[in-house]
Amino acid sequence: MIRLKTPEEIEKMKRGGKILSQTLFKIMTACVAGAHTENLDKIARDEFEKVGGKPSFLNYQIHSSDPPYPSAVCISINDEVVHGPATPDRVIKDGDLVKLDIGLWYEGMATDMAATVCVGDVPKVAVELSNATRRSLELSLDTVKPGAWLHEIGKTIQGYLEPKGYGIVRDLVGHGVGHGVHEEPQIPHYHERMAKPLKLKEGMCLAIEPMVALGDWQIKQKNDGWTIITADGSLAAHWEVTICVTKDGYELITPWPDA
Ligand code: MF3
Ligand code: CO
Repeated sequence: MIRLKTPEEIEKMKRGGKILSQTLFKIMTACVAGAHTENLDKIARDEFEKVGGKPSFLNYQIHSSDPPYPSAVCISINDEVVHGPATPDRVIKDGDLVKLDIGLWYEGMATDMAATVCVGDVPKVAVELSNATRRSLELSLDTVKPGAWLHEIGKTIQGYLEPKGYGIVRDLVGHGVGHGVHEEPQIPHYHERMAKPLKLKEGMCLAIEPMVALGDWQIKQKNDGWTIITADGSLAAHWEVTICVTKDGYELITPWPDA
């Protein structure tokens, strides 16, 4: 079931989304060579505590068989796509392509966002991959309005990225968000022709989050039970925003972190 959000709930999500975006920006700025992922995680925990919010990923389980998620921020490096834990042994290096993914409970509502950071001297192909991933997300948002098809989002992302030769992760998808971390509907970032067509409605809140590889789209999970890596070891990028469908289009619940 897709739960539409009331104007009051959307206002709460917008207040949370603003905090989330500012926090993500702070972490992006601190994400330099030599930074310990544990300390980047602490920035999020401290910021959220200050405002009476809670990290939504900490202790989260996507499936009941998952180990509880160990950190507030997912920090995924190079061939790691998503869900890399921020643990003490992990240090950012010059040349790393780092994906920061963060979620917040605020005033009873959940918001979700992610960004890719190029640390120091990264290969040009990595910068291009990150820029293209973000651009595909921006372009897909232009399709969002009441009555539009949900699958136009994935179709737009695919239409932009695949001609460039990138691999769009298929086994992980975007999602509804707000009353829970992950809600219906699922949002593939490619045109999933088997999916039941769905029309967007005012009040839907969606987390759209293309995960894109320099090589093939296949992924594997590391034996930590969380970290998702590209099967071919190629670099990956990830950008995510939470939006709501409005009367005549959409609104960003989580402003771009550098806006
Ligand atoms: N933004 C991530 C997603 O939608 C949420 C991470 S869940 C966690 O997949 F458990 F890894 F924290
Ligand atoms: Co998400």
